[in-house]
Amino acid sequence: MCGIVGIIGKKQVTSEILNSLKKLEYRGYDSAGIATLNNGEINEVKCEGRVDVLEKNLLKLDTSGNIGIGHVRWATHGAPSNVNAHPHSSNEVSVVHNGIIENSTLLKKDLIKKGYNFKSQTDTEVIVYLVSEYLKKYKIKDAVMKMLSNLQGSYALGMIFKDYPNLIIGARRGSPLAVGYGPGENYLGSDSYALKSMTNKISYLNDGEFCILNNDQVEFFDEQGSKINKKILTLSSDEKNYDKGDYKHFMAKEIDEQPNVINNCVNEYIDKINNDINIFNFPWNEKDIRNITLIGCGTAYHSCLVAKYWLEELTDFEISVDIASEFRYRKNKFKNETLYIFLSQSGETADTFAALDLCKKNNMKTCAIVNVIESSIAREANFVLPTHCGPEIGVASTKAFLGQMLVLYILTLKLSFLTKNIEQKLYKEKIKDLKNLHNKVKNTLLLENKINSVANVFSDAKGCMFLGRGTSFPIALEGALKLKELSYIHAEGYPAGEMKHGPLALIEDGMPVIVLAPRDNYYKKTISNMQEVIARGAKVLLITNKSEDDVFSENIWETIEVETANNDLLPFLLTIPLQKLAYFSALKKGYDIDKPRNLAKSVTVE
Ligand code: AGP
Repeated sequence: MCGIVGIIGKKQVTSEILNSLKKLEYRGYDSAGIATLNNGEINEVKCEGRVDVLEKNLLKLDTSGNIGIGHVRWATHGAPSNVNAHPHSSNEVSVVHNGIIENSTLLKKDLIKKGYNFKSQTDTEVIVYLVSEYLKKYKIKDAVMKMLSNLQGSYALGMIFKDYPNLIIGARRGSPLAVGYGPGENYLGSDSYALKSMTNKISYLNDGEFCILNNDQVEFFDEQGSKINKKILTLSSDEKNYDKGDYKHFMAKEIDEQPNVINNCVNEYIDKINNDINIFNFPWNEKDIRNITLIGCGTAYHSCLVAKYWLEELTDFEISVDIASEFRYRKNKFKNETLYIFLSQSGETADTFAALDLCKKNNMKTCAIVNVIESSIAREANFVLPTHCGPEIGVASTKAFLGQMLVLYILTLKLSFLTKNIEQKLYKEKIKDLKNLHNKVKNTLLLENKINSVANVFSDAKGCMFLGRGTSFPIALEGALKLKELSYIHAEGYPAGEMKHGPLALIEDGMPVIVLAPRDNYYKKTISNMQEVIARGAKVLLITNKSEDDVFSENIWETIEVETANNDLLPFLLTIPLQKLAYFSALKKGYDIDKPRNLAKSVTVE
């Protein structure tokens, strides 16, 4: 989603703002801009396209000043263009915004009647003229509060004012906003990534709050304008993960990091001396839980679908899974004995946050499994289980997906043991297998050349299908999503057993179909489904695991064999070739792999 940066200090701010905007590039965007305040003038420079275009524009125009705001935009209202890029400014004020103002049309009509001339098609521009209107009658703090009270929808705002050259104002409702503290300067950012290169001292605003930054102090206020205090957090400095090293793309690096990620995460949760699982400070007695509902979006949702099979197999809880954007509007029956688990890499996905907030308002038990522990979802949930994957910069989620599945599996094993649904011996065996999973992933990554050799078929395809049963079905969904979001090819994940109920009509001669058929309990059935599509001309890439038994089927175009493991762990191994396939297909098409078109790393609007 959009990214926001603001700096107020004693030195020139433009280059620091530009550097922070580059840190936000991972979020995905289509235009950028900066505004500074200098000698009573607001100087605004914007561009369509990447921050390096903005950098070139900045060379031609003056943006000196010790106070400024910057923005990278992911278009919601109004096409990507220079005029729709943020900041949006009048003579009096300049504004950057992340979110959606749902009543902007009505506000715009009223402001046009008052004589304001709109330049852009954005919802954000109404904020500029609304606060300008209130500034005619009120002092800055009251003018901002009155403006905010008129807005419906979500916002994270950064604002600078011509007549107030010693402050930046930030405000938050529904979209994340952070404040950073520096020596003789202070910062505003849409998340901690934006600020990490300048400080590791961070505070977060909650919904309805706003703040006033000077270069030597920051004041926080609640919706009623009363002063509030904020904790100052010290962030872990994991800058070392930020660069690509000698990889061409962050995604390639993050795929290959997975053995380490898995090993780190296992080490965080497994007591190697007692060969047991530690879920520290789990706040509930397992006897108080009867149902578990798993909620997420996109790839995070797929990890929920995989976990449903594990939880049903290893525990006696009632398990349900939902897409966050559906859950939040459903007529949910909230019961006290339900534990709600929210999956989110960024911890900022608006739909997932809204679903969590709804559960919190109904006093439900809420647990967040996130990769960014300072995120809004982590702060809102009763209990957090981090995935410990390190920053994931590629928009297409890879290592975070394996991290999500891993934490869900670890939690499942622990709950299974606590509720006496698994014998101690088997419990310990499964933990032992977990401790070796990183080696299995490492060996599976060695299949890279074979996967690269088959990628051509997919990058040239009009469309393709991914089929699987059991835990391989959500992995088929994930493989299809990876190929869609990276190579822009229509790809569909489907339960293998469902093909005969309609989608078989899609199969035509030479159509690539990936069949996930590990030697689990579904193997024979999935091989039969594979033969159905081969018989209709499909070009089948079979992904299974190593075994002495040959695959009894003819006309399989290619077979890839991942490492063998206990059936619980097969989803981790089957995912690897699908990630690599999507990567190589996109590479062959020359697409922007770390920042695919139309996508954002953290979708902080509905
Ligand atoms: C993953 O490849 C996608 N980019 C996307 O589906 C992502 O998983 C989804 O937007 C959820 O994001 P989150 O995990 O940060 O909540």
